[in-house]
Amino acid sequence: MATRYGNYIGGEWRDAASSRSFDNRNPADTQDLVGTFADSGPEDVERAVAAAREAFPRWQALPAPRRGEILYRAAETLVRRKDELARDMTREMGKVLDETRGDVQEAIDMTYYMAGEGRRQFGQTTPSEMPDKFQMSVRQPVGVAGLITPWNFPMAIPSWKMMPALILGNTVVVKPATDTPLSVVNLVKVLEEAGLPKGVVNMVTGSGSQVGSPLMSHRDVGIVSFTGSTDVGRRVSLACAPAFKHCHLEMGGKNIIMVMDDARLDLAVEGALWGGFGTTGQRCTAASRVAVHEKVYREFTDRFAAGAKALRVGNGLEPKTQVGPCVNASQLETVESYVKIGKQEGARLLAGGSRLGSASHARGYFHEPTIFGDCSPKMRVAHEEIFGPVVSVIPVRSLEEAIEVGNSVDYGLSASIYTQDIGKAFTAMREMYTGIFYVNAPTIGAETHLPFGGTKNTGNGHREACVQALEVFSEWKSIYIDFSGKLQRAQID
Ligand code: UN1
Repeated sequence: MATRYGNYIGGEWRDAASSRSFDNRNPADTQDLVGTFADSGPEDVERAVAAAREAFPRWQALPAPRRGEILYRAAETLVRRKDELARDMTREMGKVLDETRGDVQEAIDMTYYMAGEGRRQFGQTTPSEMPDKFQMSVRQPVGVAGLITPWNFPMAIPSWKMMPALILGNTVVVKPATDTPLSVVNLVKVLEEAGLPKGVVNMVTGSGSQVGSPLMSHRDVGIVSFTGSTDVGRRVSLACAPAFKHCHLEMGGKNIIMVMDDARLDLAVEGALWGGFGTTGQRCTAASRVAVHEKVYREFTDRFAAGAKALRVGNGLEPKTQVGPCVNASQLETVESYVKIGKQEGARLLAGGSRLGSASHARGYFHEPTIFGDCSPKMRVAHEEIFGPVVSVIPVRSLEEAIEVGNSVDYGLSASIYTQDIGKAFTAMREMYTGIFYVNAPTIGAETHLPFGGTKNTGNGHREACVQALEVFSEWKSIYIDFSGKLQRAQID
């Protein structure tokens, strides 16, 4: 019997109001049922938001350093359980164990970081224009935060949203992706054990239409933070607009690695393999484009294709596996359809191109690491987000052309350059209109203590992680204290 997991509302684990549930299966082996989860609806969202609202005044009143201690304890537990949590995650979404350990580690990093914010959350003090007047600014929580999280970083991204929301004194309703509810259940259990008061974090599992939609448009939710596709992000933004809710969106990417003719090609090839095929290409930061200087194009593509062909695709629980499955059938179909599109557009298939379906791959959503060469930037495979193991290589004649190609997409998350020339590195760093930039490293691998997010259709101007995350989940209050004993008129006296 598979374990049945409920929602977490007001400190209790309970079934969906409808008693319905949905299956969560291992994408590397669909006969492996990871568990069944509450298939919730608007009624469950209503209860969860009510619980969060009720818990808000007391949580807000708890001194932030005390809130930080709870987060610190949660981080310690995550450290102890890292391996077990990583195994659960690999089983539910497929990425290899090294990467799911990294995912849990990212949650650990974020939890420690935000625990520390319990003793910071710095505001300003500044001189007044007038005598005997003092002024400062402080942060205040928004209230109930509605968090809608993706499946590709099933614990890291929920922690990026939950921890800053909590340390600021907000309460939370989180809706995990339907492919990865177990990792959020695990995170919530850790917080519960760390002593988080009832109702401060609530979790409702289920579909976007039945749980996500009512959550994002709920009148008592003051801030919505969403990570996922640009299409859904636009809907979230529209749902938040009428009530002027805070809305934080982190969406797609079509990130580029630029390989210059003076680059260390061994490094560039290794970086492109990791950036393009790590997490099966299912990262919003994935290096799904590589622009290569024509002088080294041939050599780079030969080595890149050989490297991709040598990658071992399989069940992420097996130590020798380097690339896991796509997360579900529809992701795999998307990948297959883009491979078809690439061929029709005249891109040259340099590696992969097919689904893996025999023997050990028969029961999972496996696809070969795939490289298209000789791409022009206008091809759909070269400018649309695929979110799978497909990389498009674009030949360029100069740094200027690489930058132009780099900036020609609708997204602006991450970019990187491989070069030994510091001038080229700084030029690209300045000219690329992205939220993240790397030199001599691939487009993936952001750390939690710098802002994370992107420009254009990747985001809506906010950043996660680092102190910037505090902006998303708080409102500033400016405070003026006049102790002059008389009326002082700003800008007039
Ligand atoms: C994502 O792909 O949604 O920088 C997040 C990285 C990871 C986070 C990726 N630390 O690739």
